[in-house]
Amino acid sequence: PEVTKPVMSSTVTPVDAAIDTVTDGPLFSSTLISPEVISLLPTDYTIRPMRRSDYNRGYLDVLRVLTTVGDITEEAWNQRYDWITSRNDEYYMLVVCDGADRVVGTGSLIVERKFIHSLGMVGHIEDIAVEKNQQGKKLGLRIIQALDYVAAQVGCYKSILDCSEVNEGFYVKCGFKRAGLEMAHYY
Ligand code: ACO
Repeated sequence: PEVTKPVMSSTVTPVDAAIDTVTDGPLFSSTLISPEVISLLPTDYTIRPMRRSDYNRGYLDVLRVLTTVGDITEEAWNQRYDWITSRNDEYYMLVVCDGADRVVGTGSLIVERKFIHSLGMVGHIEDIAVEKNQQGKKLGLRIIQALDYVAAQVGCYKSILDCSEVNEGFYVKCGFKRAGLEMAHYY
């Protein structure tokens, strides 16, 4: 008789096997992730707060589509991650993962507390990146929508960002409009 061999899936990397569940919780509360954005993702994709173990899911490789990242060891990553964790009412960093649990998109919201506008809070949207071969699937849009949701939930009265001219059309589609002028001093 013909024997049917079991099909082995090799697409899921065993990252979870090495995870310490105590130090690998979500960076911020998962209740701040918009349920609507989750429902609009492609099948099998997830959007969630960043986790320490995202180092092993390709987080830094995704950022490389944006700019130079450098060689960052896991130890150096952990140190920075722990610093960010201690400020997780200010740093909201999220990831999109594909069906194989690889990070394919990232984005950050940094919440600034002001004196003006009656102690107003402003969201700064930073480091939006979608892996090259995953671009064009609305993942960038979902990341922005998710960060907008976090900003509104935590009480920001607006969110702002800087981008190059080539990305203006993307942000216009995300609902942003041109306001002001970016200036920089490099040190
Ligand atoms: N110019 C004009 N329109 C664009 C652009 C663009 N550069 N990129 C996407 N769009 C449009 C899409 O066509 C789509 O339009 P539609 O709704 O009519 O179909 C809409 O914007 C949404 O596009 P997505 O599929 O969500 O875009 P994607 O997932 O490819 O992500 C992103 C866009 C983040 C800019 C991606 O191309 C990327 O990672 N680029 C390299 C890194 C980068 O430049 N990041 C932004 C830096 S600025 C910052 O971080 C504040």
